Amino acid sequence: MKQKRKKFIILGIETSCDETAASLLEIKKQKDKTSFRVLSKVVASQIPIHSKYGGIIPELAAREHIKKMIPVIKKSLTLNPSSIDLIAVTTGPGLITSLFVGVESAKALAYAWQKPLMPINHLQGHIAVNFINDKPIFPALGLIVSGGHTELILIKKYNQYKKIGQTRDDAAGECFDKVAKLLGLGYPGGPAIAMWAKQSAINNQQSTINLPRPMINSNNYDFSFSGLKTAVLYLVKKTPQNKRNKKFIQNICKETQQAIIDVLIKKTFKAAQEFKVKSIILGGGVIANKELRNQFSEKIKKLKTPIKLLIPPREFCPDNATMIAATAYFKYINLIDRQIESLKNNWGKIKANPNLEI
Ligand code: KG4
Ligand code: ZN
Repeated sequence: MKQKRKKFIILGIETSCDETAASLLEIKKQKDKTSFRVLSKVVASQIPIHSKYGGIIPELAAREHIKKMIPVIKKSLTLNPSSIDLIAVTTGPGLITSLFVGVESAKALAYAWQKPLMPINHLQGHIAVNFINDKPIFPALGLIVSGGHTELILIKKYNQYKKIGQTRDDAAGECFDKVAKLLGLGYPGGPAIAMWAKQSAINNQQSTINLPRPMINSNNYDFSFSGLKTAVLYLVKKTPQNKRNKKFIQNICKETQQAIIDVLIKKTFKAAQEFKVKSIILGGGVIANKELRNQFSEKIKKLKTPIKLLIPPREFCPDNATMIAATAYFKYINLIDRQIESLKNNWGKIKANPNLEI
């Protein structure tokens, strides 16, 4: 354990997609107990800008990050920067022009404040944010479901991530967004679809809509969601008048949401059984979906061999910088002295990588 001081403070910075975020995370170590306190969590969302276009426009995202980066960092600094022990920044995966803004800003701060700087994988962040609230039991299985990724990850211990499956085309969040777009429900699609689906459930509507569950029984841990979006497209094309029918929209949203949840649950629990994991760890924007959270919780209760389920509080599901600071902490404590030394003055070596793998 390399945390020499009782209190350790990390500034996290995140700009991989369309949220400009900074967060201060305090870690206290007393005897064998480690406690985490989020001192600040600032997220400037660009949803109002991109929603006009029905999706993210990279050029606009980068310009907005440039405008918001310094105000967001300034707001997150609830203490004197001299108390910060480490700066952590997302270097990938993500949109290259968005990543540049956070990475270059973090480098400038590390240089000016003479602080060590650590590059962080955004996907690991979606998993590690869980560790602020709860301890996993290893080996664990991570399921990351966001706008750009749907991945199953085997986690042998903190910082040992191995991808065992991923989407072959659209991510689950992308499917929510595309279905919402073709139904005219706005961006981001996930929360809109969840809201319409809830109406269908509240009204206890019976529906004859049956959408496919792509690759649900395939003999691997990959996913595919583009066919689901195409199925909705054909259905809407066949009966265009239904686009104005509230009940139809509610039922199709409920069925789309359920198809995605069914595939995610089936594949996750199949992998959990095969790899004999002791925890399942969820992360990513789509994990904010209440129905998905409930159904995972219900499923886990019914298992004969117990598995621990870690789900982040809803506010930590979409992109944020606390998750980047949390990942940095678990990386940092595993470093040897020489590696810690190399984080100092390394601002010249850190680069954004849009295709960074977990
Ligand atoms: O993790 P995230 O904030 O950004 C990426 O790293 O991609 O995920 C954004 C995705 C979007 O596709 C959005 O529609 C989806 O998360 N999302 C949801 C919900 N809230 C956000 N999907 C389903 N249900 C939700 N409640
Ligand atoms: Zn994300």
